[in-house]
Amino acid sequence: MSIGSPRKLWRRRLLLEFKADEKGGNLRFETIAVHAGGAVDPATGAVAPPIHLSTTFEHGPAAEVPHGYLYIREGNPTQTRLEQALAAVEGGEAAFVFASGMAAGAAYLQTLPAGAHVLFHRDLYYGFRVLAQDYLPRWGIEASAADLGDDAALAAALRPATRLIWAETPTNPLLEVLDLRRIAEAAHAHGALLLVDGTLATPALQRPLDLGVDVVLHATTKYLGGHSDVQGGALVLRRRDPELAARLDRVRHDLGAVASPFNSWLVLRGLRSLACRMERHAANALAVAVALAGRPEVAAVHYPGLPDHPGHEIARRQMRAFGGMVSFRPAGGREQALRVASRLRLFLNATSLGGTESLIEHRASAEGAHSTAPPDLLRASIGLEHPDDLVADLLQALAG
Ligand SMILES: Cc1ncc(COP(=O)(O)O)c(C=O)c1O
Repeated sequence: MSIGSPRKLWRRRLLLEFKADEKGGNLRFETIAVHAGGAVDPATGAVAPPIHLSTTFEHGPAAEVPHGYLYIREGNPTQTRLEQALAAVEGGEAAFVFASGMAAGAAYLQTLPAGAHVLFHRDLYYGFRVLAQDYLPRWGIEASAADLGDDAALAAALRPATRLIWAETPTNPLLEVLDLRRIAEAAHAHGALLLVDGTLATPALQRPLDLGVDVVLHATTKYLGGHSDVQGGALVLRRRDPELAARLDRVRHDLGAVASPFNSWLVLRGLRSLACRMERHAANALAVAVALAGRPEVAAVHYPGLPDHPGHEIARRQMRAFGGMVSFRPAGGREQALRVASRLRLFLNATSLGGTESLIEHRASAEGAHSTAPPDLLRASIGLEHPDDLVADLLQALAG
């Protein structure tokens, strides 16, 4: 369709210009995160990017697209800036942003043909477990789960129809760590692609595309937005496979789960401080995990930064720091876990993660029927408060 091409060319130009700079200047992640998608507004010279709220753009009499945009559901300039920025920070060739993390994942799954099989890791964000169990069969797609950290289990779980392997690392809520290079090799040897939900690590701490992963998914609602005030999702592709990009563009356009301009703008703003925030989230989380690990009131602490975590060595290799999420299991089972959650003063009992404030959640209660979370597990999103205050709050809640 002729109206598509000028807009797409313009998008690509923005992205390539940035990547050329990146190569020439050997820019580091922190620098890219501050500048990507941040071209000075040509109309006004504004340094902070404008938010273009217009739902429609002037076109020619035969729907020619002289300005690069036609209608908000197809794309808008603020969304383009965010996509340019996300592709740059992940080292990918193309990015697509959506209304939520779930919308991003669902859009990818909707590009698969009926009859395809998707292999998920056994610990999986519960929303995608719901999609796998309740929706994929209705779309004619088979789904199964295996321990992707076990090479033999992974090999045994592959089927002739496997088109996609789907993994998180670290996982939500158990904080398991998966070796992305190994899983990517297994996927490619089988002729499948590997999609990684990198929401918990963010590109500040882990760049899956550099390890051979084909697609990175983010719930930008979390650390990328960073302030618990915006919802969004993104897919970033290592290679701009034109057929896949066209299918994703089409699913988003036809089904309509687009990122709004304001939400795109907020996520872009969050990206500017991502590197600093993740350093602090990770330092605080390590302090909390170390403090909890030594306590008799705690039966187990799941944090990849602890040397006895089963994925610690892999995390050291593939992450810059171990992230801001800590899950733990108070001694005394489910009832004690609920008591601890109810006694906390600084930590809020709330779902979600990645904001400046610390949150705690009994995942089995929050997830309901599809939950595989252990009944005594509390998941904590460690915020940017002083770590001593967070540790003191946890210890008083554990002591009762
Ligand atoms: C790891 C992970 N992926 C995806 C999502 C879904 O994101 P959203 O709530 O923006 O749809 C979440 C939400 O908690 C998540 O934790």
